[in-house]
Amino acid sequence: MDSKWYNLIMKKINIGIIGLGTVGAGLVELIKKNGPEMRRRQGIDLRIIAACDLRAGQGKKVGLPKATVFSRDYRRVLADERVDTVIELIGGLQPAEEIIKRTLASGRNLVTANKKVLAEKARSLLRDAMNASGFFGYRAAITGYFPLIEFLNRSQLQSRVIEGAYGIFNGTCNYILTRMERERCSYRQALTAAQEEGYAELDPYLDVSGMDTAHKTVLLVNLLYGYQMDMKQLYVEGIQKIDYRDISFAAELDYRIKLLAIVRKAGSRCQVRVHPCLVSRRSQLGALDKVMNGLELEDARGQVGGFIGPGAGKFPAAYAVLDDVITMACGNRYSYPKRQAGLTISGINEVESNFYVRFMALDKPGVLAAISSVLAKRHISIASVIQKEEEPGKAVPIVMLTHLARERDMRAALDEIYRLKVIKSPPLMIRVFDELPSLRG
Ligand code: HSE
Repeated sequence: MDSKWYNLIMKKINIGIIGLGTVGAGLVELIKKNGPEMRRRQGIDLRIIAACDLRAGQGKKVGLPKATVFSRDYRRVLADERVDTVIELIGGLQPAEEIIKRTLASGRNLVTANKKVLAEKARSLLRDAMNASGFFGYRAAITGYFPLIEFLNRSQLQSRVIEGAYGIFNGTCNYILTRMERERCSYRQALTAAQEEGYAELDPYLDVSGMDTAHKTVLLVNLLYGYQMDMKQLYVEGIQKIDYRDISFAAELDYRIKLLAIVRKAGSRCQVRVHPCLVSRRSQLGALDKVMNGLELEDARGQVGGFIGPGAGKFPAAYAVLDDVITMACGNRYSYPKRQAGLTISGINEVESNFYVRFMALDKPGVLAAISSVLAKRHISIASVIQKEEEPGKAVPIVMLTHLARERDMRAALDEIYRLKVIKSPPLMIRVFDELPSLRG
């Protein structure tokens, strides 16, 4: 082998890890297990010099190498002059933002898995990273298992405009929905199972409310168009209200329910939203089970593609962090998107789609007529109806699939229908998304 070239990628990297939660523990395990082989075969020598965690016993618990200096204060890691690469795994806004900024300003390398700080501060962090001499890696913050950042960086370099990006970005939600489908169990039972499997966070709010997907979506829009969305601009709905009955009604209609991130650009207007959708079981995203994440893409020429990989658990994010370190060790950097001039974001009210709606209604003559007359008044046309008796005397589910309707009209109609005496609980509405690129061709 040409020794000069070999020297280029032969690197000793002195790592400081801030935060030894699930991802940190996975990373320590990967470096300990794969490190010796990486050193021998690739010449990449990873050393965990320093680490910190608020929990005093955590260093021992994750099995830090003996030579690692452990403390409970991140400042000690930053102050350790031997550390050339800081890995920030604490999440949240502060002190994560300060850690990232200080590290970049000092010329050292920074790798982060922090979705929130990137979603909210991507523009300024990416600008800092552009001017920094060190490397800035954040693959673990966005569906780390597949090389999305590289793909989007290269698309920009080719002036290839991605006009549609549709993703399942939360492994925990996809696990819960799959589990409800297979076991015919409640949302609560499926969530408990996800927690027992070690997927859902202890406080699963970020996952199930759609906020984790929202953070990744805002970062995706940044990577696609250099546009920094405000979180308030994004319509976000989680999976907490989905019942296993909805999953089985959807199956009767040949659909599955998935939590989707939707980014669709037409000219300078871009629609961005995060909510559960009915998607065809024949689509690539519709076929994803358990913790799988996926992304379907379509460019301005109608060319389609995508990625698939596991999205939750100890190792996917740890591999993504390790991958950033390897990208850096091989002398590569990510590039940062140029802002597309004039881009504006459209709100949820402008969306037109087919809707799945479930009403819980008394089983009495005239109920269907009352519901359909409100829909007709708003020019919403019904494509199909399913009604099933469950327990005699109790409210029964009436499920409707509509033809194309405007979100604004649908919401107004549902408010009015809920006021009918025969309707026993707030109607549940799920948008149908039939435009996934994998369904074409
Ligand atoms: N909690 C996330 C998920 C993994 O369930 O997909 C980290 O983004």
